Amino acid sequence: ASTRFYEFKVQKTYVTKLCERKEIITINGMFPGPVVYAQEDDRVIVKVTNETPHNATIHWHGVRQRLSCWADGPSYITQCPIQAGQTFTYEFTLFQQKGTLLWHAHVSWLRATVHGAIVVYPKPGVPYPFPHPYEEHILVLGEYWFKNALKLEKQVLASGGGAPIADAFLINGHPGPLYNCSSNDVYQIEVMPGKTYLLRIISAALNMEHFFSISNHKMTIVEADGEYTKPFTVDQLMITPGQTINVLVHADQPIGKYDMAMGPYMSAQNIPFQNITAIAHFQYTGASITSIGVPAELPSFNNNLAVKSHLDGLRSLNATDLPLEIDTNLFFTIGLNVEECHSTTPNKSCQGPNGGVFAASMNNITFVKPQIALLQSYYESIQGKYREDFPSVPMKVYDYVNGAPNNFPNDTNSLNGTRVKVLEYGSRVQLILQDTGTVTTENHPIHLHGYSFYVVGYGSGNYNPMTANLNLVDPPYMNTIGVPVGGWAALRFTADNPGVWFMHCHLEIHTSWGLSMAFIVKNGQGPLETLPHPPSDLPKC
Ligand code: C2O
Repeated sequence: ASTRFYEFKVQKTYVTKLCERKEIITINGMFPGPVVYAQEDDRVIVKVTNETPHNATIHWHGVRQRLSCWADGPSYITQCPIQAGQTFTYEFTLFQQKGTLLWHAHVSWLRATVHGAIVVYPKPGVPYPFPHPYEEHILVLGEYWFKNALKLEKQVLASGGGAPIADAFLINGHPGPLYNCSSNDVYQIEVMPGKTYLLRIISAALNMEHFFSISNHKMTIVEADGEYTKPFTVDQLMITPGQTINVLVHADQPIGKYDMAMGPYMSAQNIPFQNITAIAHFQYTGASITSIGVPAELPSFNNNLAVKSHLDGLRSLNATDLPLEIDTNLFFTIGLNVEECHSTTPNKSCQGPNGGVFAASMNNITFVKPQIALLQSYYESIQGKYREDFPSVPMKVYDYVNGAPNNFPNDTNSLNGTRVKVLEYGSRVQLILQDTGTVTTENHPIHLHGYSFYVVGYGSGNYNPMTANLNLVDPPYMNTIGVPVGGWAALRFTADNPGVWFMHCHLEIHTSWGLSMAFIVKNGQGPLETLPHPPSDLPKC
C-alpha cells in the first residue's frame, strides 16, 4: 500500500450559473471539488487549510476510519471546526475499503458547495468482479442555491418553517438546458458505440433524494456505498444524499445524443413542490453536436414503488461478516415533530405548521450540538458535556396508523439534549429505525459514521418482529439507508471500531432540526482495539 497526499484549501470562489454570478466556498477553487484517488489499504493524508472567515471541517463519508476517529470530521462530534486561517491534517487508512465514496464539509450547510469524489481502486492486480469497463466516469449530483448556504440554514431555523427547494440540480456542477439561461451549461460524456462504461454516481445533494436515468439505456448496478453488489439491471435508480452507486452502461444504441436526467424523489406527499430536473448528455462519438438529447424518463417525484423496487434489488456480492447472533437490540424512532411556539423556542418566527416550529428527533430526543467536540469530552473525561442515557427504545408511544400521520403537535414534542448511546466493544448490534410518520411520512436517509451496516430488512408501517422478514443471506452493506417512507429498516453491525460516531439524517435540514445522535463505542482489550491519542494539530474550540 502507498500514501496519497492531498492539499485542500478552503477558498472563496466566484461562479456564474443561470446567469447570476455569485461567491461560493470551494476546495481549491473547484466545484465539485478535487477527486481523491487511492487504492485499497492506502494511507491518505489531506492537509486542509481554511482561507475563509467561516468554520470548516471535512468528513470522508463512508470511510470507516478504523482506529482513526479523530479524522472523521463532523464538527462538534469528533473535532472542533478548523477556524479561519487554521490548518488541520486528516490522516487515515482505507483499511479493506475500495469503491466510490465522497468527501464533504461537515459544518452547517457548507457541504452544499464543499464536496467531491473519493475513488478507491482495488489492490494492484485485483480485477473488478465484472468485465473491465472501457472507461470510467464520475457523476457528482448536487443542488444549487442562489442564496448563501450558511445564511440559508440560519434563515430556515429562525423561521421555524420548512426548507426551500434548491434553485437547480446539478450534474458535475452543470444544471443542463432546462433552466433559465443554462442552455450551454451542460455536462457531457462522450462514448464509443459498443463499449461499456462504469459510471460512479455520487449524491452530494443537500436536502433532497433523487432519481437518475439515461434515455434508452439500461444501467447495471454493481456497487452501492463502496461495496460490490450482485449485478442488478434497472431503468432508473434512486440515490439519497450521501449514497454512491456504480453502474455499468453499455453503449448499445444507435449513434446519437441521450439525456442523463436527475429529478427529485420527494416522498412527503403533503408538501407543495415544484418539479425540477438536471440534464447531462451521454453522447456517442459521431453524433451531431447540435442535436438535442433524447429525453430520459424519470419516475414521478412521489413514486415510492420505484424506490422499493430499487431497494429490493440491492444485494451484497458477499455478505462475509454479517452478524447472525445479536447481543444489543436497539429501536429508534426517527421523524419530524412540531413544537408549539412558546418560551422554549426563542428567536423563532413560528412559521411551521399550525403556527409551530419544526423540530426533529430520534427516540424523542432532539439532538443539541455540544460546545466542544464529543470525542474530546469523552477522551479527556470532561464532565457535564453530554449524557449517556440516550434511550434504547422510544420514550413516547409512537402511533403510526395505516399511513396516516399522528395528530400534531400535541403528542409529538421531544426533549432537547446531547445524549449518546454507549456500546461495548465488539457488541453485535441490531438497530431498527422506525419512521414515526408524525407531521409527514417521509423517506429519511440515515447515515452512520465509522461503520457500514447490513440492511437486513425493511418494510412499510410499524416494525413487527413476528412478521418482519429478514435477509440474513445477502443483505446490502451500506453507510446510508433511505428508511422507507412511513416504514422501518433493520440494520446490523459489529461495534468493533472505538470512538464517537455520529448518526443522522443526511437531509441537512433534518440534521439542523436535531434528527441525529451519537454512539460511543468503548475500547476493547488489545492495542488494535483502542482509540489512539488525538493528533497534535487537532483544532480547539
Ligand atoms: Cu455525509 Cu455526517 O455525513
